[in-house]
Amino acid sequence: MNRVNGIAELRAQVAAWKRAAERVALVPTMGNLHAGHIRLVEEARRHADRTVASIFVNPMQFGPNEDFASYPRTLEADAGKLAAAGLDLLFAPPVEAIYPHGHLGMTTVSVPTITGHLCGSARPGHFDGVSTVVTKLFNLVQPDLALFGEKDWQQLQVIRRMVRDLDVPIEIIGVPTVREADGLAMSSRNGYLSAAERALAPTLYTVLDAAAARIRAGERNYAAITEAANATLLDAGFTPDYFEVRRADDLLPAGPADHDLRLLAAARLGRARLIDNLGVTL
Ligand code: PAF
Repeated sequence: MNRVNGIAELRAQVAAWKRAAERVALVPTMGNLHAGHIRLVEEARRHADRTVASIFVNPMQFGPNEDFASYPRTLEADAGKLAAAGLDLLFAPPVEAIYPHGHLGMTTVSVPTITGHLCGSARPGHFDGVSTVVTKLFNLVQPDLALFGEKDWQQLQVIRRMVRDLDVPIEIIGVPTVREADGLAMSSRNGYLSAAERALAPTLYTVLDAAAARIRAGERNYAAITEAANATLLDAGFTPDYFEVRRADDLLPAGPADHDLRLLAAARLGRARLIDNLGVTL
C-alpha cells in the first residue's frame, strides 16, 4: 500500500492509473477504522481495479461544541488495517492541505431540503461540511466510484442528491451497516461509551427492529410507533434526538401509501451520540 499526504503525489498516482485505463474507487473516512470501514474497502475492491481511502477528520463538519478536538486519531493502526485489506493508496492529508486558506468563509456546497431535518437540525452546518469536503475529495481523487456506509443513511442520501444535482460523474455505492454480535452498529464513536453504556447501547437497534416488525405486521400509525420507540429509549436511559419513519430516498415523513421506508434514530448515551437506521420495504 502506498501512502501520501500531499495533493500533487495523490494526483500523480491516480493519473498513472487512469492512463492505464484502470477503474478507481474512493472510500472517504475520518479514520479510527472498524470492520464497517474495512467492508467498504472490500466492496470497493470488488468494483474497481484500484482503491483509494482518505483519512481526514474534517473540521468543517463539526459544530463548535462537538468532538472535533477529541475525535479519535489512530493513523498508524488504521494504515495497518487498510494495508491488510488490500488498499492501494491511503491519502491522509493535514488540515492545511485541504483548507490552505482556512475553512471559514470559503465556498461551500449546500444540499437543501434533505438536510433540513433529522441530523441536519440536530447538527446545524454539519451536512454543508460533509458535502463540501466530499466534493473536494471527489475533485482531488477523481474516482469512478465512491462508497459510503448506510449507517449514515441521511449522509448517503445527501451525497446521492448532490451528485445528481451537480452532474458529478461518480457512481455512489451504499454499503450495508456492519453490526456487533449484539446488534450495535459499528461506529468510531462507540469508543466513547462506558462499559455500562456499551451494555445498553444495542437497545437502539432493538427498538428500531421492533418498530420495523410492527410496520411489517401491517401497522401504519407511524406516530404511535415513534412515540412508543422514544418512550422505550428514554426508559432505557437514552436521550433521544429523533426517531422517525421516513421515505427512504427523500427522507420526507412516510405516509400509508409509501412502500420504501427507512426508520432512523439518533440518541445520546453518556458522551456518545449514536445513530442507526433500518429499511422496510412493503
Ligand atoms: O462518514 C464520514 O466518515 C464522513 O462524514 C466523511 C464522509 C468521510 C466526510 O468527512
